[in-house]
Amino acid sequence: MSIINKAAAIGGGVIGAGWVARLLLNGIDVSIFDPDPEASRKVSEVMKGARRAYRQMVPGGLPTEGKLTFAKTIAEAVADADFIQESVPERLDLKHRVLAEIDTHAPANAIVGSSTSGIKPTDMQVAMKKHPERLVVGHPFNPVYLLPLVEIVGGEQTFPEAIEVAKEIYASIGMKPVVIRKEIEAFVGDRLLEAAWREALWLIKDGICTVEELDDIMRYGFGLRWAQMGMFQVYRVAGGEAGMRHFMAQFGPCLKWPWTKLMDVPEFNDELVDLIATQSDDQAHGLSIRELEKIRDDNLVAIMDALSKQNKGKGWGAGALHKDYTRQLAKLAAKKPTASKAAEKAKVSKPVKKAEKPKKKKKG
Ligand SMILES: NC(=O)c1ccc[n+]([C@@H]2O[C@H](COP(=O)([O-])OP(=O)(O)OC[C@H]3O[C@@H](n4cnc5c(N)ncnc54)[C@H](O)[C@@H]3O)[C@@H](O)[C@H]2O)c1
Repeated sequence: MSIINKAAAIGGGVIGAGWVARLLLNGIDVSIFDPDPEASRKVSEVMKGARRAYRQMVPGGLPTEGKLTFAKTIAEAVADADFIQESVPERLDLKHRVLAEIDTHAPANAIVGSSTSGIKPTDMQVAMKKHPERLVVGHPFNPVYLLPLVEIVGGEQTFPEAIEVAKEIYASIGMKPVVIRKEIEAFVGDRLLEAAWREALWLIKDGICTVEELDDIMRYGFGLRWAQMGMFQVYRVAGGEAGMRHFMAQFGPCLKWPWTKLMDVPEFNDELVDLIATQSDDQAHGLSIRELEKIRDDNLVAIMDALSKQNKGKGWGAGALHKDYTRQLAKLAAKKPTASKAAEKAKVSKPVKKAEKPKKKKKG
């Protein structure tokens, strides 16, 4: 059961709509603000996909969905929210404007999460004049309604208690919060992804492989390993009986050979953009983005479902969490509370006390 009663989503694009879907499907009411006149249509498209995926995850029926309201202003959206997730475009000036407005109008004890892919929370919270201590980065991965990971990052002014409450909130909607120990740009996930993407661009630009061949190399090979064990545990096993030490002795020195172009960035000129976009069109074989989204979602649900049966039925990695999450959703569905009863119940466990704590103790 979630510890939040009402959430607000500021920005309803790819990521904002994904948050809206996860929250609503957990039975939480959401108020959203997005100035795009197409926002409502776009969010309902994402909701369709998310409902479809969740029906596969919980075949016995889903919990009563939360209510979605489109607000006319940020002030209206955040007015009575106890959790706010900002997902506006990745520009610091815009984040400043939006966070300042959220901070002015949100209840003092509401936790504010930012979906930013790489901006440091310290650089964002300077715009929050009232309660910068309640800002955390809550960096999700697309599709937010299915992928459980959320990287939590605190800034210089963030109170440790705010991080704790944010962890509880994200976990209560089926996510796996990982708190990043030191604040850096792009955190951990996007550092890794950017390094791999930069290298991939060189490989395409230099004609070593096409985008389809590169994706095949990932999805038929190490991508399968990454999804269930990550990088280091896979390498431990690859070291044979001597494990990680042997692996490092064997492959560590190779890192000094000039194998990668990692630090250089290829120029994003028309030629490179055309090359990649054309090859990507060929790879799609006429499938639309919405069709590809369905395929992606079905595959993700199937992978997590398969992993949930591993490890003597206890589940492994994301599968262990998936098992708990689908059980939690099924339990919520079995209760089928009316909207008002659900609201009453959520009120009792509203994180007001906890979220108020941060104001008493300042970090550093
Ligand atoms: N796309 C990804 O894979 C991904 C993954 C993780 C995090 N993020 C981060 O999430 C955030 C949003 O990215 P996205 O991919 O959803 O972008 P997007 O362009 O799909 O959506 C952004 C939305 O914000 C809306 N918007 C613009 N100005 C606004 C304002 N003043 N108030 C409210 N809404 C406003 C736009 O109308 C749009 O709908 C960025 O910080 C991005 O770095 C993106």
